[in-house]
Amino acid sequence: MRWQRGVLVVGIGAALSGCTANPSPFAPKSAKAQEITDLFSIIHFFGGVVFLVVAALVLFAVYRFSRDKTPGEPQQLYGNTRLEVAWTALPALLLVVVLGLTVNTMASTRQPAEASYTIRVIGHQWWWEIIYPDQRIVTASDMHIPVGVPIYVEVESVDVQHSWWVPELSGKIDAYPGRVNRTWIQADEPGRFRVHCSEFCGTQHANMAMYVIAQPQAEFDAWVARTSQPAPPELWPENDPVAAVFTQCIGCHAINGSTVAKGVSGPNLTNFGARTHIAAGVLDMNEENLKRWLRDPNEVKPGTLMGQAVRRGSLSEEEIDVLTRYLLSLK
Ligand code: CUA
Repeated sequence: MRWQRGVLVVGIGAALSGCTANPSPFAPKSAKAQEITDLFSIIHFFGGVVFLVVAALVLFAVYRFSRDKTPGEPQQLYGNTRLEVAWTALPALLLVVVLGLTVNTMASTRQPAEASYTIRVIGHQWWWEIIYPDQRIVTASDMHIPVGVPIYVEVESVDVQHSWWVPELSGKIDAYPGRVNRTWIQADEPGRFRVHCSEFCGTQHANMAMYVIAQPQAEFDAWVARTSQPAPPELWPENDPVAAVFTQCIGCHAINGSTVAKGVSGPNLTNFGARTHIAAGVLDMNEENLKRWLRDPNEVKPGTLMGQAVRRGSLSEEEIDVLTRYLLSLK
Protein backbone atom coordinates (compact mmCIF):
# COMPACT_ATOMS: atom_id res chain seq x y z
CA MET A 1 0.00 0.00 0.00
CA ARG A 2 2.75 2.47 0.94
CA TRP A 3 4.41 2.42 -2.48
CA GLN A 4 1.08 2.87 -4.32
CA ARG A 5 0.39 5.95 -2.23
CA GLY A 6 3.90 7.24 -3.08
CA VAL A 7 3.27 6.77 -6.81
CA LEU A 8 0.01 8.68 -6.53
CA VAL A 9 1.64 11.63 -4.71
CA VAL A 10 4.53 11.81 -7.22
CA GLY A 11 2.09 11.57 -10.15
CA ILE A 12 -0.14 14.39 -8.92
CA GLY A 13 2.94 16.52 -8.13
CA ALA A 14 4.32 16.01 -11.66
CA ALA A 15 0.95 16.85 -13.21
CA LEU A 16 0.61 20.08 -11.23
CA SER A 17 4.22 21.25 -11.71
CA GLY A 18 3.51 21.57 -15.44
CA CYS A 19 0.94 24.29 -14.74
CA THR A 20 3.26 26.87 -13.20
CA ALA A 21 5.43 27.58 -16.27
CA ASN A 22 5.26 31.08 -17.72
CA PRO A 23 3.60 31.76 -20.17
CA SER A 24 0.77 29.52 -19.10
CA PRO A 25 -2.25 28.51 -21.19
CA PHE A 26 -4.16 29.02 -17.91
CA ALA A 27 -3.39 32.78 -18.04
CA PRO A 28 -5.00 33.89 -21.33
CA LYS A 29 -4.49 37.48 -22.50
CA SER A 30 -6.99 37.58 -25.38
CA ALA A 31 -10.65 36.74 -25.93
CA LYS A 32 -9.71 33.84 -28.22
CA ALA A 33 -7.25 32.39 -25.71
CA GLN A 34 -9.85 32.86 -22.96
CA GLU A 35 -12.36 30.70 -24.86
CA ILE A 36 -9.74 28.01 -25.39
CA THR A 37 -8.78 28.15 -21.70
CA ASP A 38 -12.45 27.87 -20.67
CA LEU A 39 -12.84 24.72 -22.78
CA PHE A 40 -9.53 23.37 -21.47
CA SER A 41 -10.70 23.98 -17.87
CA ILE A 42 -14.07 22.26 -18.39
CA ILE A 43 -12.37 19.20 -19.94
CA HIS A 44 -9.88 19.21 -17.05
CA PHE A 45 -12.77 19.32 -14.60
CA PHE A 46 -14.55 16.35 -16.23
CA GLY A 47 -11.25 14.50 -16.50
CA GLY A 48 -10.54 15.27 -12.84
CA VAL A 49 -13.92 13.93 -11.70
CA VAL A 50 -13.45 10.73 -13.75
CA PHE A 51 -9.92 10.36 -12.35
CA LEU A 52 -11.11 10.78 -8.76
CA VAL A 53 -13.98 8.31 -9.15
CA VAL A 54 -11.78 5.67 -10.84
CA ALA A 55 -8.89 6.21 -8.39
CA ALA A 56 -11.28 6.00 -5.42
CA LEU A 57 -12.79 2.74 -6.72
CA VAL A 58 -9.34 1.25 -7.35
CA LEU A 59 -8.11 2.25 -3.90
CA PHE A 60 -11.31 0.92 -2.32
CA ALA A 61 -10.93 -2.41 -4.13
CA VAL A 62 -7.25 -2.68 -3.24
CA TYR A 63 -7.98 -1.97 0.41
CA ARG A 64 -11.29 -3.78 0.87
CA PHE A 65 -10.45 -6.97 -1.03
CA SER A 66 -6.82 -7.37 -0.02
CA ARG A 67 -5.76 -10.93 0.77
CA ASP A 68 -5.42 -10.04 4.50
CA LYS A 69 -9.13 -9.19 4.75
CA THR A 70 -10.63 -11.82 2.47
CA PRO A 71 -8.38 -14.86 2.43
CA GLY A 72 -8.83 -17.69 -0.01
CA GLU A 73 -10.13 -17.82 -3.59
CA PRO A 74 -12.20 -14.67 -4.40
CA GLN A 75 -15.82 -15.03 -5.55
CA GLN A 76 -15.93 -15.61 -9.34
CA LEU A 77 -18.26 -13.30 -11.35
CA TYR A 78 -19.34 -13.64 -15.00
CA GLY A 79 -20.73 -10.48 -16.61
CA ASN A 80 -23.14 -7.85 -15.37
CA THR A 81 -25.24 -6.37 -18.17
CA ARG A 82 -26.46 -3.34 -16.25
CA LEU A 83 -22.91 -2.43 -15.16
CA GLU A 84 -21.47 -2.95 -18.64
CA VAL A 85 -24.14 -0.77 -20.26
CA ALA A 86 -23.49 1.92 -17.63
CA TRP A 87 -19.72 2.05 -18.08
CA THR A 88 -20.09 2.17 -21.86
CA ALA A 89 -22.90 4.74 -21.99
CA LEU A 90 -21.58 7.16 -19.35
CA PRO A 91 -18.13 7.76 -20.93
CA ALA A 92 -19.77 7.96 -24.38
CA LEU A 93 -22.18 10.59 -23.10
CA LEU A 94 -19.31 12.51 -21.52
CA LEU A 95 -17.37 12.44 -24.81
CA VAL A 96 -20.43 13.69 -26.72
CA VAL A 97 -20.67 16.64 -24.30
CA VAL A 98 -16.93 17.36 -24.76
CA LEU A 99 -17.34 17.10 -28.55
CA GLY A 100 -20.23 19.57 -28.47
CA LEU A 101 -18.29 22.06 -26.35
CA THR A 102 -15.23 21.68 -28.60
CA VAL A 103 -17.18 22.24 -31.83
CA ASN A 104 -18.81 25.26 -30.21
CA THR A 105 -15.40 26.74 -29.25
CA MET A 106 -14.02 25.98 -32.73
CA ALA A 107 -16.92 27.91 -34.25
CA SER A 108 -16.62 30.89 -31.93
CA THR A 109 -12.83 31.19 -32.41
CA ARG A 110 -13.00 30.83 -36.19
CA GLN A 111 -10.91 33.25 -38.23
CA PRO A 112 -12.61 36.66 -38.45
CA ALA A 113 -13.67 37.78 -41.91
CA GLU A 114 -11.43 40.83 -41.99
CA ALA A 115 -7.93 41.21 -40.61
CA SER A 116 -5.74 44.27 -40.92
CA TYR A 117 -2.50 42.41 -41.55
CA THR A 118 -1.32 39.08 -42.85
CA ILE A 119 2.00 37.96 -41.45
CA ARG A 120 3.84 34.84 -42.57
CA VAL A 121 5.76 32.76 -40.05
CA ILE A 122 8.22 30.19 -41.35
CA GLY A 123 9.76 27.54 -39.12
CA HIS A 124 13.43 26.69 -39.54
CA GLN A 125 15.55 24.37 -37.42
CA TRP A 126 15.62 26.20 -34.94
CA TRP A 127 14.27 29.71 -35.38
CA TRP A 128 11.25 31.51 -36.79
CA GLU A 129 11.37 33.73 -39.86
CA ILE A 130 8.73 36.47 -39.93
CA ILE A 131 7.59 38.07 -43.17
CA TYR A 132 5.22 41.02 -43.71
CA PRO A 133 4.50 40.57 -47.43
CA ASP A 134 2.65 43.87 -47.93
CA GLN A 135 5.21 45.87 -45.97
CA ARG A 136 8.18 44.09 -47.59
CA ILE A 137 9.67 43.24 -44.20
CA VAL A 138 11.68 40.08 -43.58
CA THR A 139 12.75 39.66 -40.00
CA ALA A 140 13.11 37.09 -37.22
CA SER A 141 12.63 36.66 -33.49
CA ASP A 142 10.14 39.50 -32.81
CA MET A 143 6.72 39.71 -34.48
CA HIS A 144 5.41 43.24 -33.99
CA ILE A 145 1.63 43.62 -34.18
CA PRO A 146 -0.79 46.48 -33.43
CA VAL A 147 -3.11 45.96 -30.42
CA GLY A 148 -6.85 45.59 -30.72
CA VAL A 149 -7.09 44.26 -34.28
CA PRO A 150 -7.13 40.71 -35.63
CA ILE A 151 -3.97 39.59 -37.43
CA TYR A 152 -3.88 36.68 -39.87
CA VAL A 153 -0.88 34.43 -39.44
CA GLU A 154 0.17 32.04 -42.23
CA VAL A 155 2.38 29.32 -40.86
CA GLU A 156 4.71 27.03 -42.79
CA SER A 157 8.12 25.35 -42.54
CA VAL A 158 11.18 24.96 -44.74
CA ASP A 159 12.44 21.71 -43.22
CA VAL A 160 10.65 19.50 -40.69
CA GLN A 161 7.36 19.80 -38.87
CA HIS A 162 7.14 22.53 -36.22
CA SER A 163 4.17 23.99 -34.36
CA TRP A 164 3.60 27.66 -33.66
CA TRP A 165 2.05 28.39 -30.27
CA VAL A 166 1.42 31.66 -28.40
CA PRO A 167 -0.17 30.22 -25.24
CA GLU A 168 -1.43 33.60 -24.03
CA LEU A 169 -3.09 34.57 -27.33
CA SER A 170 -4.08 31.47 -29.28
CA GLY A 171 -4.02 27.72 -29.77
CA LYS A 172 -1.35 25.72 -31.60
CA ILE A 173 -1.00 25.57 -35.37
CA ASP A 174 1.24 23.08 -37.16
CA ALA A 175 4.00 24.28 -39.49
CA TYR A 176 4.53 21.88 -42.41
CA PRO A 177 6.92 22.14 -45.34
CA GLY A 178 5.04 22.77 -48.58
CA ARG A 179 1.72 23.70 -47.01
CA VAL A 180 0.37 26.94 -45.54
CA ASN A 181 -1.73 26.70 -42.38
CA ARG A 182 -3.74 29.71 -41.33
CA THR A 183 -4.59 31.03 -37.89
CA TRP A 184 -5.18 34.43 -36.32
CA ILE A 185 -4.27 36.31 -33.18
CA GLN A 186 -5.39 39.48 -31.50
CA ALA A 187 -3.80 41.16 -28.49
CA ASP A 188 -6.15 43.40 -26.54
CA GLU A 189 -3.38 45.00 -24.49
CA PRO A 190 0.19 45.97 -25.38
CA GLY A 191 2.68 43.35 -24.24
CA ARG A 192 5.34 40.82 -25.14
CA PHE A 193 4.09 37.27 -25.58
CA ARG A 194 6.41 34.30 -25.82
CA VAL A 195 5.91 31.85 -28.67
CA HIS A 196 7.01 28.22 -28.36
CA CYS A 197 7.62 25.55 -30.92
CA SER A 198 5.34 22.78 -29.68
CA GLU A 199 6.20 19.94 -32.04
CA PHE A 200 9.45 18.07 -31.47
CA CYS A 201 11.72 19.11 -34.34
CA GLY A 202 15.25 18.09 -33.33
CA THR A 203 17.79 18.63 -30.59
CA GLN A 204 17.13 22.37 -30.15
CA HIS A 205 13.34 22.10 -30.25
CA ALA A 206 13.09 23.55 -26.73
CA ASN A 207 15.19 26.54 -27.85
CA MET A 208 12.95 27.57 -30.72
CA ALA A 209 11.09 30.55 -29.34
CA MET A 210 10.10 34.00 -30.56
CA TYR A 211 7.99 36.86 -29.23
CA VAL A 212 4.82 38.58 -30.34
CA ILE A 213 5.22 42.25 -29.43
CA ALA A 214 1.85 44.04 -29.34
CA GLN A 215 2.10 47.82 -29.61
CA PRO A 216 -0.32 50.75 -29.89
CA GLN A 217 -1.10 51.44 -33.56
CA ALA A 218 1.11 54.55 -33.82
CA GLU A 219 4.12 52.75 -32.32
CA PHE A 220 3.55 49.79 -34.64
CA ASP A 221 3.27 52.09 -37.68
CA ALA A 222 6.57 53.72 -36.70
CA TRP A 223 8.20 50.28 -36.42
CA VAL A 224 6.88 49.32 -39.88
CA ALA A 225 8.07 52.61 -41.41
CA ARG A 226 11.55 52.13 -39.93
CA THR A 227 11.88 48.39 -40.58
CA SER A 228 10.60 48.40 -44.16
CA GLN A 229 13.52 50.65 -45.18
CA PRO A 230 16.69 49.03 -46.47
CA ALA A 231 19.80 49.53 -44.36
CA PRO A 232 21.39 52.94 -45.06
CA PRO A 233 24.39 52.70 -47.45
CA GLU A 234 26.90 53.50 -44.70
CA LEU A 235 25.78 50.28 -42.95
CA TRP A 236 26.16 48.00 -45.96
CA PRO A 237 28.66 45.28 -45.19
CA GLU A 238 30.61 45.93 -48.38
CA ASN A 239 32.06 48.94 -46.57
CA ASP A 240 35.02 48.92 -44.18
CA PRO A 241 35.69 48.13 -41.41
CA VAL A 242 33.22 45.25 -41.41
CA ALA A 243 33.71 44.12 -45.03
CA ALA A 244 36.61 41.73 -44.46
CA VAL A 245 34.88 39.94 -41.57
CA PHE A 246 31.33 39.91 -42.90
CA THR A 247 32.24 38.06 -46.12
CA GLN A 248 31.97 34.88 -44.01
CA CYS A 249 28.33 35.72 -43.20
CA ILE A 250 26.89 36.66 -46.60
CA GLY A 251 26.29 33.08 -47.70
CA CYS A 252 23.54 32.74 -45.09
CA HIS A 253 22.50 36.26 -44.05
CA ALA A 254 21.01 39.21 -45.92
CA ILE A 255 21.18 42.96 -45.24
CA ASN A 256 18.50 44.73 -47.31
CA GLY A 257 20.12 47.26 -49.64
CA SER A 258 23.47 45.50 -49.75
CA THR A 259 24.41 43.94 -53.08
CA VAL A 260 26.64 41.30 -51.50
CA ALA A 261 24.80 40.12 -48.36
CA LYS A 262 21.88 38.20 -49.86
CA GLY A 263 21.90 34.83 -48.10
CA VAL A 264 18.50 33.39 -47.19
CA SER A 265 19.21 30.27 -45.13
CA GLY A 266 19.84 32.27 -41.94
CA PRO A 267 17.89 35.17 -40.43
CA ASN A 268 17.78 38.45 -42.37
CA LEU A 269 19.91 40.83 -40.28
CA THR A 270 18.68 44.22 -41.57
CA ASN A 271 17.13 45.25 -38.22
CA PHE A 272 19.12 42.82 -36.05
CA GLY A 273 20.14 45.38 -33.41
CA ALA A 274 16.50 46.27 -32.72
CA ARG A 275 15.51 42.71 -31.77
CA THR A 276 15.00 41.73 -28.17
CA HIS A 277 16.89 38.45 -28.17
CA ILE A 278 19.46 36.24 -29.90
CA ALA A 279 19.33 32.62 -31.10
CA ALA A 280 15.52 32.25 -30.98
CA GLY A 281 14.90 33.19 -27.37
CA VAL A 282 18.04 31.69 -25.82
CA LEU A 283 19.89 34.94 -24.98
CA ASP A 284 18.73 38.51 -24.34
CA MET A 285 20.06 41.01 -26.87
CA ASN A 286 23.11 42.77 -25.47
CA GLU A 287 26.79 43.19 -26.30
CA GLU A 288 28.06 40.55 -23.90
CA ASN A 289 25.61 37.88 -25.10
CA LEU A 290 26.23 38.67 -28.76
CA LYS A 291 29.97 38.21 -28.25
CA ARG A 292 29.33 34.91 -26.48
CA TRP A 293 27.17 33.75 -29.41
CA LEU A 294 29.78 34.78 -32.02
CA ARG A 295 32.64 33.24 -30.04
CA ASP A 296 31.05 29.77 -30.05
CA PRO A 297 27.43 29.28 -31.23
CA ASN A 298 27.71 25.59 -30.35
CA GLU A 299 28.27 26.44 -26.70
CA VAL A 300 25.03 28.45 -26.62
CA LYS A 301 22.93 26.19 -28.85
CA PRO A 302 24.58 22.88 -29.78
CA GLY A 303 23.76 21.59 -33.26
CA THR A 304 22.73 24.91 -34.75
CA LEU A 305 23.63 25.68 -38.39
CA MET A 306 25.52 28.80 -37.27
CA GLY A 307 27.73 26.54 -35.18
CA GLN A 308 28.78 24.60 -38.28
CA ALA A 309 29.95 27.81 -39.94
CA VAL A 310 31.45 29.49 -36.89
CA ARG A 311 33.44 27.31 -34.50
CA ARG A 312 35.26 28.26 -31.33
CA GLY A 313 38.33 30.18 -32.48
CA SER A 314 37.09 30.82 -36.07
CA LEU A 315 36.76 34.51 -35.24
CA SER A 316 39.45 36.52 -33.44
CA GLU A 317 38.46 38.79 -30.53
CA GLU A 318 39.08 41.82 -32.81
CA GLU A 319 36.75 40.37 -35.45
CA ILE A 320 34.13 39.66 -32.79
CA ASP A 321 34.42 43.30 -31.61
CA VAL A 322 33.95 44.61 -35.15
CA LEU A 323 30.98 42.30 -35.84
CA THR A 324 29.29 43.06 -32.51
CA ARG A 325 29.53 46.82 -33.01
CA TYR A 326 28.25 46.44 -36.56
CA LEU A 327 25.34 44.10 -35.78
CA LEU A 328 24.11 46.19 -32.84
CA SER A 329 24.10 49.28 -35.10
CA LEU A 330 21.62 47.61 -37.51
CA LYS A 331 18.26 48.94 -36.31
CU1 CUA B 1 10.51 23.58 -34.08
CU2 CUA B 1 10.06 22.13 -32.29
